[in-house]
Amino acid sequence: MERPLTQHITFPPLGLRAYEAVGGYQSVRKVLKDLAPQEITTLVKESNMKGRGGAGFSTGMKWSFVPMNVSGPKYLVVNADEMEPGTFKDRWLLEGNPHQLIEGMIVAAYAIQATESFVFLRWAYKTAAVEIRKAIREAYDAGYLGKNIMGSDFSLEMHLHTGVGRYMCGEETALLNSLEGKRATPRSKPPFPQVSGLFGRPTIVNNVETLCYIPHIINNGAAWFQSLSRTNDGGTKIYGVSGRVKNPGAWELPMGITMRELIEEHAGGMQEGYRFRGVLPGGASTDFLVEEHLDIKMDFAGVAAAGSRLGTGTMVVLDDRTCPVGFVHNLEHFFAQESCGFCTPCREGLPWTEKLLLAIERGEGREEDLAILSSHTKMMGPGNTFCALAPGAMEPLQSALRYFRDDFEQHIREKRCPYHA
Ligand code: NAI
Repeated sequence: MERPLTQHITFPPLGLRAYEAVGGYQSVRKVLKDLAPQEITTLVKESNMKGRGGAGFSTGMKWSFVPMNVSGPKYLVVNADEMEPGTFKDRWLLEGNPHQLIEGMIVAAYAIQATESFVFLRWAYKTAAVEIRKAIREAYDAGYLGKNIMGSDFSLEMHLHTGVGRYMCGEETALLNSLEGKRATPRSKPPFPQVSGLFGRPTIVNNVETLCYIPHIINNGAAWFQSLSRTNDGGTKIYGVSGRVKNPGAWELPMGITMRELIEEHAGGMQEGYRFRGVLPGGASTDFLVEEHLDIKMDFAGVAAAGSRLGTGTMVVLDDRTCPVGFVHNLEHFFAQESCGFCTPCREGLPWTEKLLLAIERGEGREEDLAILSSHTKMMGPGNTFCALAPGAMEPLQSALRYFRDDFEQHIREKRCPYHA
């Protein structure tokens, strides 16, 4: 089985010469010599690459929205602010093969004719920062970055920018505000960044995993990309599993692998003494799925049909000895803390939600609290807040109220947490 994204990951990562020896930077040479910018966008569109940050928006389509016949700067930004709870896939790519990302960034920048690019990196990813800085320096020294790359008329600058550890900065327009030195609150969309992004200029923001794939699509083509997958969504995908499984981790596997294969084969099944109760399929801001969903395909359509989202593809497993109320309370604590405070439903609603969940968890909940929590999931649902943070935060809660309702009711009835003696 091919694993294009992770096959050359090593710790420490390959230096530039070693990376070139395994075919690195070939796609840069190829596009600068043989392909017009629009041809690259068309190829990426044909591959049906769907963005790996969580939303699954078509990458080629996104690039095609950049106006090509305008003068002045355009920007490429890689969103490496990976902070979704339970998600650690981009960290693997960043620490283990930073040249692959830089290569993808150069090709993407050429496709949209950007002259400046930024790696917006999560503050806590210290090792990644060291490795990326080193790799950028090597790429400049070898002529892959800077003026007239490989003797062409294409020039590109690249900067590493480390965030300050706020989840909000993963939202692309909050990220752009932060990069401009402003408070990291989201902007209204439209206009989308492709038209008006960094400093009001056309900007593409892509996830790390998405950009790491670009060199492979250029080298091998759209049909090859499709052939790696078991479904219409092309390629392989980095999936992960955490929780009380025997072998938590991350693996590059064909897109569309089933949830059961991931949990039972790759993660080794549940630890002795623990039973599977449910799973957040794509990081914490997705709806729980349960046993009846284990055979769904883990692609964008498959997980959506089951009532959740593929999101980051890194699953968090809930077992039968962990209190679902406490589990969701812990998540809502995170989301309440990370709200940027810009819009009222999120700023006020998340701390209130957290407070109610804590009360229920402690056995101090009231019967009417469940109806209030349900109304919160609607009040902070899609369309009622400025960005996706609060709607995402409501996904595990609304599905926990559906699948684990008995647990909530038992806490209220018995005035204690049944999971604690
Ligand atoms: P979104 O669906 O609004 O946008 C996704 C991308 O498509 C953006 O780049 C946006 O500019 C573009 N886009 C969407 N509609 C468009 C249109 N009509 N015209 C032009 N461009 C368009 O989703 P959003 O809010 O950017 O991301 C939410 C996702 O992020 C969630 O699915 C969540 O799973 C994921 N996420 C990932 C995190 C991580 O650490 N990787 C952290 C938090 C959330």
